[in-house]
Amino acid sequence: MQNKLKKSSLIESNSNGTMKHPLMQTSQLMKLFEDQLKDIYWAEKALTKAIPKMIKNSTSGELIKVLKAHLAETKEQVIRAEKVFEFISKEPETKKCEAMKGLLREVKEIMQSCEPGAMCDAGIIAAAQKIEHYEIATYGTLRQFAITLELTGAVELLDITFNEEKVADEKLSEVAMSAINIKAAEELLEIA
Ligand SMILES: [Fe+2]
Repeated sequence: MQNKLKKSSLIESNSNGTMKHPLMQTSQLMKLFEDQLKDIYWAEKALTKAIPKMIKNSTSGELIKVLKAHLAETKEQVIRAEKVFEFISKEPETKKCEAMKGLLREVKEIMQSCEPGAMCDAGIIAAAQKIEHYEIATYGTLRQFAITLELTGAVELLDITFNEEKVADEKLSEVAMSAINIKAAEELLEIA
């Protein structure tokens, strides 16, 4: 009980009413922000190479359309990430993102293990949505860190990408809910 009281007494309130933990220094949060930015910068660059392969292996016109649109967005997101580096007066730098590397390996395995068709399309959508959710989580964190660090310009840039990722995920859900999953189920029945 005494410990809990001690801990809570370390938490202060900012002038705007938000809570600030004095043990977390701005420089430490800034370091975390930079690390996350390097991570997603690597991921976005990797995606500009991976999405064209996903397009090549897709057969659904709707899926190809969504992936092509997101490829164009991803190229812009790389440039936007560079602008965030510029905003914090840092040179753009990548840090290999092991999570994204694993997710991209999963897409590769799916594409290697199935013939082009509805089943393969459904697998590509599933993998693409996992990627989108990873990106949404990372941009959400970066955005929150930027708000705390009062990096207003960076918040605006990160907001744009955060929303693009959410819309891309929704569009993939729409494609999944359309003909693809039904066709994939029919293909499975034919195999059985
Ligand atoms: Fe992205």
